[in-house]
Amino acid sequence: MKRLGVNIDHIATIRNARGELHPDPFFAAKYVRKLGANSITIHLREDRRHIRDLDAKKICSLKKLLVNLEISTNTKIVKIAHKIKPNFICIVPEKRKEITTEGGLNLSKNKNKLKKIIISFKKKKIRTSLFINPSLKDIRLAKELNTDCVEIHTGKLSNLVKSNKNFTNELNKIKNCSILAKKFGIEVHAGHGLDYSTTKLLSKVKEIKEFNIGHFLIGESIFFGLSKVIRNFKKIINN
Ligand code: PXP
Repeated sequence: MKRLGVNIDHIATIRNARGELHPDPFFAAKYVRKLGANSITIHLREDRRHIRDLDAKKICSLKKLLVNLEISTNTKIVKIAHKIKPNFICIVPEKRKEITTEGGLNLSKNKNKLKKIIISFKKKKIRTSLFINPSLKDIRLAKELNTDCVEIHTGKLSNLVKSNKNFTNELNKIKNCSILAKKFGIEVHAGHGLDYSTTKLLSKVKEIKEFNIGHFLIGESIFFGLSKVIRNFKKIINN
């Protein structure tokens, strides 16, 4: 069975817009789990623009909830992640002024730093993942880094599909990377910019085991409700 991870960062974005307590990401984490999400994703950004330290701490303390914490390689953030002990870690690149994570990690430039971070989390039996662009070179580097998983950045594919442009080449890149990663024993995840149509396309790539979806899922839920939207995504990924 393929898994659905629900990214609840944007529930915190709405809360922060008012500077008050509602809607509460801690409640959201428990609620989406009840609705069938296999895990939840939160990104503790260096600027804390959505999820904050206390949110992350409370959410990671929940039993029976699998939490995937996205972090940059920033030493202070890595330290916090070690303290709050999520089930999973996904290391992502982070630029202060970006609206969202714009691309995958530069693995060759950050090899030594990433290697140390991965070893430190694996020692604590925390599943590690690297957010990467669909490139075979990066899959080989990910193997050298001994990561448990890679999450393939699907933003480019999503943009091509949404703007009715030819996406075959990008989809093939994702497929080929997924096949190679699986061959290396690395679990494959996909995320970024996914909506119903792009998730449907990628659900045919049998090597992809987990989809991490945020912005569209939360946005669509404003109209149709979390329950229905999560149900729709679960159906799509397992069809
Ligand atoms: N996966 C990773 C690693 C991300 O950084 C993000 C965005 O925070 C997502 C998945 C979710 O992307 P989106 O919000 O576009 O669905």
